[in-house]
Amino acid sequence: MKILITGGAGYIGSHVAKALLEENKHELTIIDNLCKGSQKAIEALRSVGEFEFIETSLEDVARLDEIFKTHKFDAIIHFAAFIEVFESTQKPLKYYLNNTSNAINLITLCNKYGVKNFVFSSTAATYGEPDEAQVSESTSQNPINAYGRSKLMTEWVLKDTAAANRNFKYAILRYFNVAGASLDGLLGQNYPNATHLIKVATQTILGKRDKMSIFGDDYDTKDGTCIRDYIHIEDLANAHLSALRYLKDNDSNIFNVGYGTGYSVKEVIEAAKEVSGVDFKVEMAPRRDGDPACLIANSDRLRSLTDWKPVNDDLKVIIKSALEWENKA
Ligand SMILES: NC(=O)c1ccc[n+]([C@@H]2O[C@H](COP(=O)([O-])OP(=O)(O)OC[C@H]3O[C@@H](n4cnc5c(N)ncnc54)[C@H](O)[C@@H]3O)[C@@H](O)[C@H]2O)c1
Repeated sequence: MKILITGGAGYIGSHVAKALLEENKHELTIIDNLCKGSQKAIEALRSVGEFEFIETSLEDVARLDEIFKTHKFDAIIHFAAFIEVFESTQKPLKYYLNNTSNAINLITLCNKYGVKNFVFSSTAATYGEPDEAQVSESTSQNPINAYGRSKLMTEWVLKDTAAANRNFKYAILRYFNVAGASLDGLLGQNYPNATHLIKVATQTILGKRDKMSIFGDDYDTKDGTCIRDYIHIEDLANAHLSALRYLKDNDSNIFNVGYGTGYSVKEVIEAAKEVSGVDFKVEMAPRRDGDPACLIANSDRLRSLTDWKPVNDDLKVIIKSALEWENKA
């Protein structure tokens, strides 16, 4: 397949690119403007296989048009976006422009050049604060921040476009909390000012931060801290390959991607202390805007309709891989 990956120098995109290169049967083009992604990830991927890297922004529609015209892609896997929930509450337009408007430009080009398959990085943040302990794909979507809304709008655009154009299919993947690094140590999370819990915990273990904060311990959960479903990056990456195979013989669909197990912030911190043997400093802080109490995936649909088989469903494996990566970073 000829595949375009947007945001392939970023955390998730680079791991998916690695998994596709390892399959050794695709022609891969990666575009990224490196606003958050890293050149180092692109260099690391060169050791896995051959691909084309184009440094450009999704905003440059003329350049994108040229790329689509000359490449005749079979599939797009669209990761490029801004991802920080709190920032989205402060700078919503930044999120709507990059995550929604730029995605519309991309989908428009897919239609113009007859690209048939679109795999979209959506998020559990589109559910907002669901009533159910575990959310399924049919749980109602009421996002509580601009990040979640910017992603939900793109889902709507995909659905409407596919309904109007029978030659265009999508797989919407709603990720839960992605964490860890590739088990061979090649790739990991490179965000300079990460806000992700496991990343921050590993930085605190290694003394890169003096301490870390728990944002709110008065949520309606077992220990008062937020509960999330943490999925190892390589299992998440493989869900994209399963989604592409699914689209070959099936119509568009939406899949939650998580393990279905929830851990509280306090539990993750305890596990990080156990894995590392380091009793790092943790302080309490007020709640952050935009954080729902509990998000756990029901991923039955992905497990039953596709060939996805997760292999790293273990919080300690996730933390250990993240720690090993952070130690080298
Ligand atoms: N990390 C998570 O836990 C998580 C959870 C749910 C959904 N997602 C989604 O997964 C996707 C990837 O997230 P990530 O964690 O890898 O983030 P990331 O910041 O590491 O990757 C995003 C990449 O997109 C690039 N990019 C951003 N805007 C661009 C633009 N206009 N033009 C070209 N490149 C651009 C960045 O440089 C970066 O390399 C996002 O769409 C995000 O919403 C992530």
